Amino acid sequence: MSVASSLRRYAASRFLNVHASPKSFRNRSAVAIRLQHVAPPPLNSSNGKAACTPALKPGISDDTYFPPNENILFWRHFVTPQRPTETAARLRRHVDHVFYTSRKNPSSILYWLHAFARLAFFNNVFSSLGHTFLAMRLYDAPLSTRLLAFPINHADELLHVFKQDYDNIRTGTYNMPWDVSLTHRQSSPFFILRQILALAAEAPRVLSKTVEKESSNSNWLHSKLFPHYYSQTFHHQTDGWLSSSSADVYEVSTESLFRGTQDAMQRTVLKAISLFVQSYHRNQSKLTMLDLGAGTGRFSTFVRDNWPHAHYILADLSPFYLQKARENMSYWQRKRASSHLGPGSVRFMQANAEDLPLEKGSVDILYAVYLFHELPPHARQKVVLEAARILRPGGLFIIADSVQFGDRLHRDSALGNFERLNEPWFSSFIELDLGKLVCKDGMFTPYVKEVASMTKMLSFRRLGV
Ligand SMILES: C[S@@+](CC[C@H](N)C(=O)[O-])C[C@H]1O[C@@H](n2cnc3c(N)ncnc32)[C@H](O)[C@@H]1O
Repeated sequence: MSVASSLRRYAASRFLNVHASPKSFRNRSAVAIRLQHVAPPPLNSSNGKAACTPALKPGISDDTYFPPNENILFWRHFVTPQRPTETAARLRRHVDHVFYTSRKNPSSILYWLHAFARLAFFNNVFSSLGHTFLAMRLYDAPLSTRLLAFPINHADELLHVFKQDYDNIRTGTYNMPWDVSLTHRQSSPFFILRQILALAAEAPRVLSKTVEKESSNSNWLHSKLFPHYYSQTFHHQTDGWLSSSSADVYEVSTESLFRGTQDAMQRTVLKAISLFVQSYHRNQSKLTMLDLGAGTGRFSTFVRDNWPHAHYILADLSPFYLQKARENMSYWQRKRASSHLGPGSVRFMQANAEDLPLEKGSVDILYAVYLFHELPPHARQKVVLEAARILRPGGLFIIADSVQFGDRLHRDSALGNFERLNEPWFSSFIELDLGKLVCKDGMFTPYVKEVASMTKMLSFRRLGV
């Protein structure tokens, strides 16, 4: 038996042990369906674009640096159910799991309410229609076949992301997300309406084919800080990164793209930080964390909520996104002030990730979330060198970004299509061996890897004394 098939069997058995409710253990067909989650794809499943051999796929090359574990193998072989009966059986198991955890731990009820509310908001009829148009643009398929973009087919995958997130909360790896609170503005009908209107105004443009013929540069604002690639209207967003309306609609558009799971997928980063802090840095008030390409800073509110005594720098090139990040941090501070606020601090910095105005060895943890796929190859190399310069020896470098070829074998053939959403360097990203890029000069050593649906997180420790 090959090593790969032993690992698959191991993952299958672990998955059965960990996830099946006692009832489903008695149910043979449930077990059979469950095993299909981890069944390897046929060897000829990659067609056209993903024609690189498995050995060259970065998701597989990662195994050299990060020994494949249950999580990595589960997502690598995850298959969307094809038949309604299969979909129904998988959904029944999720419902069992939600009831089981809610009975065992009543505080989880709030988490599941929050998760289902997000799923309902980001998978309603309008957003599903949006996904159908998006699928038509990305895959050139006729409308009839794209009605598959309707949410029920994806529900199993989406619920797995929340399950994975909840497992980390249950085991104390990180806290319950602070935005589950019913007093958070995202539960307010006015806030929801504003988000819907912003999205409704932006979506037709992003989804229309004619936009491709327009100039893909938003160069109304010039600055010596901006590298040439920065003025692209990434994702066909109006004004690219360079307006407050773009910053206003960013969170709701990207969450819509990921059908409500973006926050939960990004929280894989919290897992690496948590392991690192528990192992090496119990005194968080001595920690400096840098969010590189922080965007609207929403993710950093989750980090800060877990380590409120640490010091934060949120760096980005867009002054508009930084302004939004400042608002998000102030909102977090107002909401959590009495119970949670530590002596930590936060600074905002307009800076190019390739050339940061920070002292050598001045940062303990650096996380770059969804930044690397926006950078051309030469910029990625420079950012890695900058990370090596500013991180203290022993410090943690985290890259969380799109999955790459080999991380989701059944998605490989379509992954490259995202480039059509004006992602000029996406193709070069999904075939990049990140482990090699980061570790090749002996400056970093691999730490942990975690996958959640369409996001993967790789982390590395800075070597040296
Ligand atoms: C896809 S967004 C991700 C934002 C945020 N990290 C998140 O996950 O929500 C990429 C961000 O990187 C910023 N960015 C792109 N190139 C950059 C560079 N060279 N230096 C600093 N920031 C950059 C953009 O302004 C944008 O805010």
